Amino acid sequence: MAQELSAQDREKQAVGEAAAAHVEDGMAIGLGTGSTVTFFAAALGRRIADGLTVRALPTSAASIDLAQSFDIPLIDWTATTRLDLCVDGADEVAPDRAMIKGGGGALLWEKIVASASARRLYIADSSKLVARLGAFPLPVEVVRFGHQATAERLAALCGEAALRGGAEAPFLTDSGNFIYDCRCGEIADPAALEAALGAIPGVVESGLFVGMVDLLIAVRDGAAVELGPQDAPWWGADHD
Ligand code: 5RP
Repeated sequence: MAQELSAQDREKQAVGEAAAAHVEDGMAIGLGTGSTVTFFAAALGRRIADGLTVRALPTSAASIDLAQSFDIPLIDWTATTRLDLCVDGADEVAPDRAMIKGGGGALLWEKIVASASARRLYIADSSKLVARLGAFPLPVEVVRFGHQATAERLAALCGEAALRGGAEAPFLTDSGNFIYDCRCGEIADPAALEAALGAIPGVVESGLFVGMVDLLIAVRDGAAVELGPQDAPWWGADHD
């Protein structure tokens, strides 16, 4: 018997299925990473089985497996460097659509793929909508060489930086780097913090995604709602 979905998974399914409706025939898409994207991939797989032609560039080794499990044809960077659309999840989304990503460790590839996409669609269940970014530890990808020194500079900026997986068994990204999860507290100015992190030698990329959302599909009162850049958010301090 199929297992019943949790309330949160039903929300992820709702936004994933709504996102799949945005994929048009012939598109080259970026395929994000994570449990919400899994529902998108399942819905896209059903559309492909019904005749939709689409190719996907995955944002992680995990999403290569995901694409294959739903018979979504793959592309790689040698075939194309421009994508029509990317669809990805988020760990936190602020009212101005600044986001924290990288909970799954794929932030670098996710940001590269998003940057190569003409249109960027993000999907988020209601737990991801926050008044201010920062309760979710901010993932920062760093090169292994000198990472202890880089971590000191991260801690000076953010307060606390923990090596994901710990020193004994550190988590390795798909590019072979480490991730430090930084407890920054409330992030008042995500763009300024993103720039400051990017200026630290050894930092490859941060999980701050600022100004990248062309369309957000999130959940309000149990239903998927689409929010363009000009649409007013319904969550956050000014809206509670
Ligand atoms: C992976 C990500 C994911 O998009 C993010 O962690 C959300 O994941 P989920 O949909 O499982 O909550 O940034 O690096």
